[in-house]
Amino acid sequence: MPKVRFEPSGVEVETAEGTTILDAALEADVELDHNCGGNCACSTCHVIVDSGIESVNPITEDEQDMLDEAIGLTENSRLACQCQLTKNVTVTIPDTSAQFADFDDFD
Ligand code: FES
Repeated sequence: MPKVRFEPSGVEVETAEGTTILDAALEADVELDHNCGGNCACSTCHVIVDSGIESVNPITEDEQDMLDEAIGLTENSRLACQCQLTKNVTVTIPDTSAQFADFDDFD
């Protein structure tokens, strides 16, 4: 069974092959936004796959289109609701709240 480690919390969960990273996060009570309910219609479930990216399903055009809206995009970025597990991975959940913190400086 594939195992997911979520950073920065360090929480790990084993899950069935084919489970999405979002469903693994929900199983493990890891906080991960998913405003559209996992329908590839937002970018709030953006995660960065730090290790094991070669073992997950290929990105689709629809996922890439939504992912382009994500804040802090990297070449290992995926939408957690579209990314299915087959082997162990480590993912980072970006701290989007920190990226908006500077907006207070515009007063
Ligand atoms: S929850 Fe909206 S795209 Fe994943």
